[in-house]
Amino acid sequence: MPGPQPSDRHVPVMLDRVVALLAPALQQPGAVVVDATLGLGGHSEAFLREFPEARLIGLDRDPDALRLAGERLAPYAERTTFVHAVYDELPGVLAELGVPAIDGILFDLGVSSMQLDEAERGFAYAQDTPLDMRMDSTAPTTAADILNTYSAADLARILFQYGEEKFARRIADRIVRARETEPFTTSARLSELVRDAIPQAARRTGGHPAKRTFQALRIEVNGELDVLRRALPAAIDALALHGRIVVMSYHSLEDRITKQTLAAGTRTDVPDDLPVIPAGHEPYLKLLTRGAERPTEEEVAVNPRAASARVRAAERVRAKGLVA
Ligand SMILES: C[S@@+](CC[C@H](N)C(=O)[O-])C[C@H]1O[C@@H](n2cnc3c(N)ncnc32)[C@H](O)[C@@H]1O
Repeated sequence: MPGPQPSDRHVPVMLDRVVALLAPALQQPGAVVVDATLGLGGHSEAFLREFPEARLIGLDRDPDALRLAGERLAPYAERTTFVHAVYDELPGVLAELGVPAIDGILFDLGVSSMQLDEAERGFAYAQDTPLDMRMDSTAPTTAADILNTYSAADLARILFQYGEEKFARRIADRIVRARETEPFTTSARLSELVRDAIPQAARRTGGHPAKRTFQALRIEVNGELDVLRRALPAAIDALALHGRIVVMSYHSLEDRITKQTLAAGTRTDVPDDLPVIPAGHEPYLKLLTRGAERPTEEEVAVNPRAASARVRAAERVRAKGLVA
């Protein structure tokens, strides 16, 4: 019996809006669009259908996602190139492919529903699964490695910074004490420890008590924020004039990095009292979204995983090579 289809394993979020934001840059023959987070190829399939003259480069750090997306997009094989890469490797990927500039790029951040649903990958806190959390199962460090080896201070720092967890120190101390008896291997023990560490009154808000700890571990395992901080400026730098970037975040840390990176491109470094902005110092980006756009209630009702999505987009308005 055939397994579930890619389209059943992950529903692309805010699909029509993402396509509309990129459309003006992708209508011309030979336009190049990069899907930096190919996943199950849901957005990419729409790009290939809606922009029949465009060529697509799809990246993913998860070899399973690349394989499944490759099968799904096989009808478009002549216009697609798939690369196993972390998205901050984009400049090297483009150089290798001989692509000097791109016309559109999408970052649909985080994990796919397929990754969340595959219990053995250990992203889920509601089931007892191995503490893995690697998006690329060939990468060296798992969540269990972090729990069993980091100092209490380092654990507290990542829980606080990446999980925005108020009780980071208490949880970190308990992790260090618990691993002296037995190392951590599966998620249920960690979920329980976190629940017990959080005072009863604080447990009633913010969803599952272990949610923030699991988010923090996932971000640390995959180096998610550092990679994003490097990748967004590199992607903007790769855009041709009038090329467009669309970024979809699922938590406030990703959205903050996106907001700051895009905003930096809309400002000029010239003092306010200068009557004209000298050439080469004009802003290089124009925002295409006012604040962050959210999915409609109708979309969230059909696809609850869209609930936390926030989209920001910008257009390159000064030619490549002039970013300060
Ligand atoms: C939300 S899913 C993308 C879903 C896709 N847009 C679709 O509709 O099918 C995110 C994907 O990005 C990949 N990913 C996350 N961080 C990455 C990174 N730093 N570099 C490359 N791929 C990454 C994950 O492995 C996952 O497959």
